[in-house]
Amino acid sequence: LCPTAQLNTGHRIPLVGLGTWKSQKGEVHDAVVEALRAGYRHIDAAAVYGNEQEVRVAPCLHVRRPPVMRLSKRVWVGEALSQVLSEGVISRDQIFVTSKLWNSDHHRVRDACLKTLSDLQGLIWGVTWVPTCNITTKGPRPHSGRSGPEVSPPLSETWAALEALVSEGKVRSIGMSNFSPKKVEAILAGAKITPAVLQVEAHPYWRNDKLFNWASSKGIHVTAYSPLGSPDSAAIMKRSADAPSPLKDPVVQRVAEKLGCSPAQVLIRWGVQRGTSVLPKSVNSERIRANLDAASLVIQPEDFQALSTIEPQTRMVPGTFLVDAQNGPYKSLSELWDE
Ligand code: A2P
Repeated sequence: LCPTAQLNTGHRIPLVGLGTWKSQKGEVHDAVVEALRAGYRHIDAAAVYGNEQEVRVAPCLHVRRPPVMRLSKRVWVGEALSQVLSEGVISRDQIFVTSKLWNSDHHRVRDACLKTLSDLQGLIWGVTWVPTCNITTKGPRPHSGRSGPEVSPPLSETWAALEALVSEGKVRSIGMSNFSPKKVEAILAGAKITPAVLQVEAHPYWRNDKLFNWASSKGIHVTAYSPLGSPDSAAIMKRSADAPSPLKDPVVQRVAEKLGCSPAQVLIRWGVQRGTSVLPKSVNSERIRANLDAASLVIQPEDFQALSTIEPQTRMVPGTFLVDAQNGPYKSLSELWDE
């Protein structure tokens, strides 16, 4: 079984979850099915990935219905779910699903959440609902004439709307993604609920140590996205194909050889052993299984130390697409990350 961590809400988060960013329509469905069958109980999704509906129907495959049944989703999901539940293959409350409010939806948090709940309805009981840093690309524009980053609606309002969803029982835990400690602190000042999770990029080439230590001191669990260094985002992120990759790092490869596992498994286990949850994305059934198996490896302290001191540190997903020098609110990467 996959190890879990307890969130400050009392719910437990499985430490290996299936990432679905960059998983294409037509492949994410099977990937989620494969993952659940392999023992994953944590799926990471987002409306902006454009594949949530497909994530939703995945568990229905447990009843081995032909895909054509997808045509009538409501009947199919309801029917399939009751069959899945009666088969005892998997129960709805065993599955931890994270979804995310996209930047264009901060002024309509509840509607966006309900849409995601509807898209994922077949499999969730409650989601961890993680807003990204707010960059209003649609809807109201940021106020002008003031200095520094300013978003509209203010992040504190977005957070209050998320808190209301917890009171309403629509979601179990709420968190943030791509927030710097400074931005979280600003929200915490007026918040009723401390974020359960902070989801950021993390792997040995971008450990995010400062943020990790800060979050841990506040009782906020860190989830690592792109734990393999996001090798498939090189083109999207305009990295050169031969840019350094933690999968090819000599320390990672040496530890992999020692443990008799793959470099990817070392990276996954490193994240788990550090106490983060990790979200390796894969649409390949062997790799999906191998990635979960990595949770049960053990990296010896000296190797863990070597992996935790690799230099230099570089983001693979720098967030350039979240910066807009003309219209802001974050006009530079340093404003975005507060670094
Ligand atoms: P694929 O989906 O074909 O398995 P990240 O989680 O850091 O974003 O990385 C995702 C990328 O890593 C995808 O290209 C994925 O490809 C690949 N990947 C996933 N699991 C493994 C693995 N065990 N070994 C090598 N590459 C992997």
